[in-house]
Amino acid sequence: MSRQDKWAFMKEDLEKRRQRELYRTMKVLDSSQSTHVLYHGKRLLMLASNAYLDFCNDPRIKAAAGKALEGYGTGSGGSRLTTGTTRLHTELEAALARFKGREASLVFNSGFAANSGILPAVCRKGSVIFSDELNHASIIDGCRMAGAETVIYRHNDMADLERRIREKGCPMGLVVSDGVFSMDGDIVDLPGLVRVTQKYNLLSMIDEAHATGVIGKTGKGTEEYFHMQGKVDILMGTLSKALGAEGGYVCGSELLISYLRNTTRSFIFSTSLSPVTMAAAARAVRLLEEEPQRVSRLRENVNWFCQCLSEQGIAAESPSAIVPIRIGEEAKALRVSERLLKQGYFLSAIRYPTVKKGGAMLRAAIMATHTKEELAGAAQAIAEAIRAAETQPKIDAL
Ligand SMILES: Cc1ncc(COP(=O)(O)O)c(C=O)c1O
Repeated sequence: MSRQDKWAFMKEDLEKRRQRELYRTMKVLDSSQSTHVLYHGKRLLMLASNAYLDFCNDPRIKAAAGKALEGYGTGSGGSRLTTGTTRLHTELEAALARFKGREASLVFNSGFAANSGILPAVCRKGSVIFSDELNHASIIDGCRMAGAETVIYRHNDMADLERRIREKGCPMGLVVSDGVFSMDGDIVDLPGLVRVTQKYNLLSMIDEAHATGVIGKTGKGTEEYFHMQGKVDILMGTLSKALGAEGGYVCGSELLISYLRNTTRSFIFSTSLSPVTMAAAARAVRLLEEEPQRVSRLRENVNWFCQCLSEQGIAAESPSAIVPIRIGEEAKALRVSERLLKQGYFLSAIRYPTVKKGGAMLRAAIMATHTKEELAGAAQAIAEAIRAAETQPKIDAL
């Protein structure tokens, strides 16, 4: 009897991805994450990083992490409810609660673990989750893992959300949305979302991953941007983007945080993050409070970059640090990013399944510490690369 190749489905899957220009590889860097990175011995201008405030390499944050390493060692040795809670974990939680103006907060091992844990903890059989169609994958997975029914509403369309809530007539439920959408960089209609959740007595949950440190006058995020402090029930975020560390968090009432501490599986059944990471994140929160001008500098840079792109004939605007540059065809997006790489620019092509098929784009992410000259040069190189990709065949990546 001939035996089937038990690996065949993997080989076929990967082959299909290669044929459709959807095969993924990683670019290995030999430097810290900052405005410039080292790749294969070449110095590149980084235009794709979520380290919007350039905190990964800040000497004050590194000093805090170094001190924690000396005092507490490398690992936490257990989950938060066993041996894995140090003073540095609780100090970070206090700092996050203060920063977001909430009674309490809880730190998770990643933003992904936070979303995929919180939603099943809060929503069960009988409740309904209303989720924006462009929400992050971690929210989508959280919805799948919850026993609740999930209803997807049109992107940032509060009339569609309200119509679907009325159709369902649900007594228990939650509306969840990214604060800043991770690929398009646009901002949730928070006034609309809060109005609808209050009207129908639903919980509201906002993911602040790309909003914290970026929007609102002092970088406090979506609520500050709309002058609506304290209006969201469940304020979730990550430490891994503007704050330059790692981990996820949720801020809210004492009741919410006690409940999540007792019920969220991704919090309970996982070894907690290292004290080093906690110290880095806590120092980053303080640095953001001490130097809110970094947020206005980031805003100026985004506006300047969009202006430079527009002058090159590429329509661009963004209220956040993410500037989407639409390309369309996957192969073309790859050609553009490969050419830019050769010319010294790190700018990733974003393809399906992160965005829709045929909706490939370059996702430019701006930092507060980019210079005006760097951004102007990048805008020109991007425009030239797009024009070249329309006529030129594929070139070899570095
Ligand atoms: C909107 C959003 N939420 C959650 C996450 C997950 O956060 P983390 O990278 O900390 O797991 C990300 C990014 O990765 C994100 O973009």
